[in-house]
Amino acid sequence: MTARPAVFPRDFKVLDRPSIVRGRGMYLEDDTGRRYLDANSSAGVVGIGHGRTEIAEAILEAGDSLTFVYGGAFNHPWQEKLARAILSVAPPSMAAVYFVSGGSEANETAIKLARQYHVERGKPQKSKLIARWQSYHGVTLATLSLSGRTSWRQIFSPYLTPVTHIAPPYPYRCAYCAAQGGCTLACADELERAILLEGPDTVAAFFAETIVGTTATGLTPHADYYARVREICDRYDVLFVADEVLCGYGRTGKPFAIQHWNVSPDIITMGKAIGSGYAPLGAAVIADKIVEAYAAGSGRFVHGFTYSGMPVSCFTGLKVFEIMQREKLFERPAEMGERLMSEVKALADKHDCIGEVRGRGLLIGVEFVADRMTRAPFPKEAAFTAKVAAGMRRRGVIVSPGVPLANFGRDGDHLQISPPFIIAEAEIALIIDALDGALTDATALSL
Ligand SMILES: Cc1ncc(COP(=O)(O)O)c(C=O)c1O
Repeated sequence: MTARPAVFPRDFKVLDRPSIVRGRGMYLEDDTGRRYLDANSSAGVVGIGHGRTEIAEAILEAGDSLTFVYGGAFNHPWQEKLARAILSVAPPSMAAVYFVSGGSEANETAIKLARQYHVERGKPQKSKLIARWQSYHGVTLATLSLSGRTSWRQIFSPYLTPVTHIAPPYPYRCAYCAAQGGCTLACADELERAILLEGPDTVAAFFAETIVGTTATGLTPHADYYARVREICDRYDVLFVADEVLCGYGRTGKPFAIQHWNVSPDIITMGKAIGSGYAPLGAAVIADKIVEAYAAGSGRFVHGFTYSGMPVSCFTGLKVFEIMQREKLFERPAEMGERLMSEVKALADKHDCIGEVRGRGLLIGVEFVADRMTRAPFPKEAAFTAKVAAGMRRRGVIVSPGVPLANFGRDGDHLQISPPFIIAEAEIALIIDALDGALTDATALSL
């Protein structure tokens, strides 16, 4: 019998994961020498690609002069430089950045920033949060409370705090607009209803992934959705927090996904691509009006992680930013994403199981259905997406199976394709070949 690993497994049924020993560009390599095309950027993280020697050298240099200083007592130059760099590409109302070590911490920080903002302005009764179903904002108890990912919420429900959830903008399965012949923005108006029902004086903030990630990859709201959200939030003095941990920092072809809607949120949360896997880094990007309220109020945000603004992480973030700008990686996903998307869509002619292909830039979701006419999903037990992802892995391409989403989170399948921003034509072809073959196999297995 093989000994149990010393590391607590994420899944006791899958102990034989490949051991990855090397990453270069778009590829990972395991300890047997097998190469994989990383078509999901390792959970949407590695935007600039793996194994950049330039970054490794920069980390060496930074670490040689300073590895850590406690941000509660000291400044260091890299944090300010990185904050200025991020603000230079952010919507104009953004005025400051709070650094953390990842996406959950960024959203946890945003919850507290929003709450204290209202307290600073003499509105301590404003505490409630509104978010959407089929969303993911993190694993900490507060961010899981925000998340509308039913499968991850259930076990921990005794500890979750009350958050009101509204419908996501999901045209393919929209309960509001199915009979209307097009989007009516009813899902945005549901926000107003929720605020009114809760009591506008009690609501602090609305959280939404600008473009949805793992829980329903690629859901992209109507062109007027966020303007309507902004209008509703302003009407009731509710902060709008855009979670861009996955969809932000270039992934959709703009530095921030919300820039496609030309709307300014009050807080934008960041993670993943900002450190690109070279350092644990996340951030809350904060609007001027919040910064001013704190400055004019108590002057002190009651918050702070030991590793907030860690020098090596900020230094690494700066190098990632430099590469993103130099190689135009904030823009490149727009063009490459269009090519990849059109080739995935073309596969629908051959594979009836493709119900919808959606997304923006290099954040592409493929929803599978058992019946394209009725849009009936595969039953969960069919594990269709798992079969597709496994088939692609056998062909040397890594993608990410999404969580069930139809029938109130019981059944349904979707796949997330979210490759690094450096992807080239040749790799698009490899992804399409692998997907094509894996769909043929998975369909045969499901007949
Ligand atoms: C949209 C979104 N928000 C928040 C998170 C949580 O980020 P982290 O896993 O870095 O804590 C994720 C992670 O996948 C995410 O996709």
